[in-house]
Amino acid sequence: MTAMRFFCPYFIVGILGLMALDIVAATGDKSCGTIDCDLIEIDIHDKVAIQRGAHTYVHYCLGCHSLRYMRYDDIVQYTGIDESIFEENLILDGGNIGDTLDNALDQDNAKLWFGIAPPDLTLVTRDHSPEWVYTFLRSFYIDETKQWKVNNKVIPNVAMPHVLYELQGIQQCANQGEGQDGAEKNDSCPQFTLLEEGSLQPQEFDATIADLVHFLVFVGEPYRVERERLGIYVLLFLSIMIGITWLLKREYWKDIHRS
Ligand code: HEC
Repeated sequence: MTAMRFFCPYFIVGILGLMALDIVAATGDKSCGTIDCDLIEIDIHDKVAIQRGAHTYVHYCLGCHSLRYMRYDDIVQYTGIDESIFEENLILDGGNIGDTLDNALDQDNAKLWFGIAPPDLTLVTRDHSPEWVYTFLRSFYIDETKQWKVNNKVIPNVAMPHVLYELQGIQQCANQGEGQDGAEKNDSCPQFTLLEEGSLQPQEFDATIADLVHFLVFVGEPYRVERERLGIYVLLFLSIMIGITWLLKREYWKDIHRS
């Protein structure tokens, strides 16, 4: 009983601590459509990766995908980019630093063009997982039967064009041409070869996508670093308080035990 009384507060604080530090990671589904997800290590403290990812995002993605819950100045404040450099290079629509990352895409027209409107991506790494997004963006391959002449292993029959083909080049199934129809080809496409080279080497392209995913993870939870920092202070405070409470308890019970 005494042991229980002693361990109980430590147990509760331990659980709270784990939650505060986010060590109890959300175990999302790691499966990526028709393939296994490729692994990616996310370091949310890597501000340079987030800066590079933001640059790629506003130039290649923002036209179709808004980040409606993110403001430009949140990116400036967290990554420490100089405000005037940021405004010059990353606010392409002449907007204000206090604006959210929105775009002028008309949803009805988008539905007509793509068949499905490009979704807002603020929470995409939480809806799916960073690994899912990383694998999706590297898994486009040529398929002449599709509207945008590409298909994707993670979202089969994808409605998104391969907007990064200039960087990645054009991938094809290693055994393209085998099988009688599209479905069979898809099933017999365990790996890709490059049909046409892009401006980046494959490792450079993977690094560019990794930076992009770093940025999207940051956008999904911009206050995570601050929360982790605060969590450490809260734990320190609780540990000190437990020590003091325990000493106080010993003092109060001293006389009772003696009698
Ligand atoms: C020309 C418009 C267009 C551009 C530019 C574009 N996308 Fe997309 N994207 C789409 C469409 C349309 C879909 C819906 C695809 C589907 O579900 O078949 C989509 C889907 C996605 C998804 C899957 C979302 C989900 O929850 O299913 C991700 C992730 C994504 N895009 C990331 C990006 C990134 C990152 C960029 C920039 C490198 C980008 N997109 C650029 C049109 C675009």
